[in-house]
Amino acid sequence: MNISVIGAGQMGAGIAQVFAVAGHQVSLVDISTESLDRGLASVQSSLARVLKKERITEVELATAVANISLHTDMAEGVSEADLVIEAATENVDLKLKIFAELARLAPAAAPLASNTSSISITRIAAATDRPEKVIGMHFMNPVPVMKLIEVIRGYATNDETTKMVMQLSRDLGKVPVEVTDYPGFVANRILMPMINEAMYTLWEGVADVEAIDTVMKLGMAHPMGPLQLADYIGLDTCLAILNVMQEGFGRLHYQACPLLVNMVTAGKLGRKSGEGFYDYS
Ligand code: CAA
Repeated sequence: MNISVIGAGQMGAGIAQVFAVAGHQVSLVDISTESLDRGLASVQSSLARVLKKERITEVELATAVANISLHTDMAEGVSEADLVIEAATENVDLKLKIFAELARLAPAAAPLASNTSSISITRIAAATDRPEKVIGMHFMNPVPVMKLIEVIRGYATNDETTKMVMQLSRDLGKVPVEVTDYPGFVANRILMPMINEAMYTLWEGVADVEAIDTVMKLGMAHPMGPLQLADYIGLDTCLAILNVMQEGFGRLHYQACPLLVNMVTAGKLGRKSGEGFYDYS
């Protein structure tokens, strides 16, 4: 199949990688060649890890990379798409703009999926000419490793689109779980309050970063502590998701910790900016 992936960041590059490895032709679209080059470099370094573990051969690695083409022109990147997956920044206005463009540029038969981690699929679908073909396909980070795909049905999403995305997810070796469109869906509705609570625990001086993460890693067998995971996801993304839930539910319960707001305002976004709760420089 021809898969177009919009956005070559952490998630977009991972999504491009899993489809390319599975033998699909992937058109990776972003606004600058620098972003595309960074995205492809991250695919290459991720595949190099897989090669080191002898799970793929050098030929398979080269074939997967060759399956990915890079485009700064959206029209060109989606012109032959059988499925489009949007993985841009977690910003409503940006996503609405992208989906309005996709409705104009992608083949009429192509389902339009969003990797949004919390924004309403129904709202995104309303910006298009084909709400019945708009669906959430929420991958987890790191995409090549994590098995889950949260598949979100919007108000108008039809059975055909849902079945196609569920099957395609299984064909990638992932485990899709179907959920309905509600703020934060399932994954982030449960994950983000925990991460937010870890930040409040730090902010209120109950324990330091390492202590909080150690408690959750060794006490609950989580692979990463909540503050390490927040850095990994990106603090701006965590804040955006909490804001969507706070607005969607109107409950103080989801209000972002002031420490998170301050860190994002100060440009401390976690791993991607070199500093968050930990120092990555
Ligand atoms: N590409 C390919 N392989 C990778 C990889 C990547 N980017 N990152 C890790 N791996 C592989 C490693 O090669 C290794 O393989 P083996 O098991 O065969 O040795 C395996 O994954 C484990 O990696 P490491 O040994 O380097 O490190 P680790 O054991 O600490 O695991 C981790 C790293 C998989 C990231 C683990 O720490 C983990 O599972 N963390 C939690 C991740 C998580 O919760 N993700 C969800 C975030 S929420 C989200 O994404 C949704 C949202 O909307 C916010």
